[in-house]
Amino acid sequence: MDRLVMRGGRPLSGKIAISGAKNAALPLMTATLLTQDPLTLRNIPDLADITTLSELLSEHGAEITLRKQDGVRSLTLSTPKITCAVASYDLVRKMRASILVLGPLLARHGEAKVSLPGGCAIGTRPVDLHLKGLEAMGAKIELEQGYVNATAPKGLQGASFRFPIVSVGATENLLMAAALAHGDTVLENAAREPEIADLARCLMAMGARIEGAGTETIRIKGVASLHGADHLVLPDRIETGTYALAAAATGGDVLLTQTDPETLGALVDLLVQAGAEVEATRDTLRVRRDPARRLIGVDAMTAPFPGFATDLQAQFMACMITATGASMISETIFENRFMHVPELMRMGANINLHGGTALVRGVDVLRGAPVMATDLRASVSLVIAGLTAQDETVVNRVYHLDRGYERIEAKLSACGADISRVRD
Ligand code: UD1
Repeated sequence: MDRLVMRGGRPLSGKIAISGAKNAALPLMTATLLTQDPLTLRNIPDLADITTLSELLSEHGAEITLRKQDGVRSLTLSTPKITCAVASYDLVRKMRASILVLGPLLARHGEAKVSLPGGCAIGTRPVDLHLKGLEAMGAKIELEQGYVNATAPKGLQGASFRFPIVSVGATENLLMAAALAHGDTVLENAAREPEIADLARCLMAMGARIEGAGTETIRIKGVASLHGADHLVLPDRIETGTYALAAAATGGDVLLTQTDPETLGALVDLLVQAGAEVEATRDTLRVRRDPARRLIGVDAMTAPFPGFATDLQAQFMACMITATGASMISETIFENRFMHVPELMRMGANINLHGGTALVRGVDVLRGAPVMATDLRASVSLVIAGLTAQDETVVNRVYHLDRGYERIEAKLSACGADISRVRD
């Protein structure tokens, strides 16, 4: 298994081009199941999750071609016919986002058998809301031997559905299903993440009739069929936030390009409160901190967009461990998303964990150590900590990082970080 080896203490300085958003690309790819025409998605990141989903979609009958032009990767996905409506446990267990094939398969094909994803490192993460929403649209759903068996022989019917809690994935699944349902659907308390608006833009380019995506009420008028489209995937706001936090943590000066600062939600305010300087244009974000002045401890609580993203909580904590004063960080979205805490403590961090809240008291120095984490964002928080620590840090199990960060060591070393990948 590959490892990342780094020696901390160098401020990051330079430019980093942000990749297309993983969490937008995945639902967009599943939209191929809604049409027999080709769907082209530009600005697709080179990540393990994209490969896993491509494998799954191929099993359903998608033909997928990858093109690279001027460093931009595009996928053309074409599913003339659903050849198999089964999403097997082998592939679904690798990536929870596979559950997003359920709505599109059911809407176009009238039936689907999709493995339940099961729990994951950050919590139980049920899919009950996906299923309840589809049932409200007339689907018959049975759970059998770990699989969701869903049928809608006469097609799905438009419905009104209010999400009891905000769910990004369930909003995406129902949005896609409703696009091909008979009649009108109203989704209330829908997720407002930028990836939802991006999916809706693509669906509308395919002929769907959608209003209000990006707000908490989305109205969809079902259409009989959708056609192909060419869509540019939005920049990755979590990758942007991660490098912005790395710049602040190391006392660096980094210009993030090909991004969209509008999608960062509460993060920019938190960075400013913590003492970083932030300048945004339409598509760049510059983050710097005078290395002579330490960051200031700031409290943060995760919340659905536009609140502070749970996917940045671990990276924010990595910044706060060497800040002056204390920082209270509360996780409200997932029940077990503090796996980075014991590893950060092995590097000398002072953190007290009580349920969903971590009290971080800033320390003067971190010491490098061999560390590892069992999820993507926790792993990258260890990289940020390693870049600020004295001595050598080795982050094991890099395959977690490869699920969500394209060429991370190349992007960081181009900004002066002493980091390299060791292949075993
Ligand atoms: C997506 C993101 C993930 C991010 C998360 C929250 C993708 C591929 N992944 O995950 O990176 O951390 O949003 O911003 O876009 N829940 C239920 N029942 C359900 C569905 C969800 O109880 O049927 C709960 C979850 O356990 C969690 C909360 O709702 O506590 C939010 O989860 P959700 O927004 O659905 O996350 P994902 O779509 O899985």
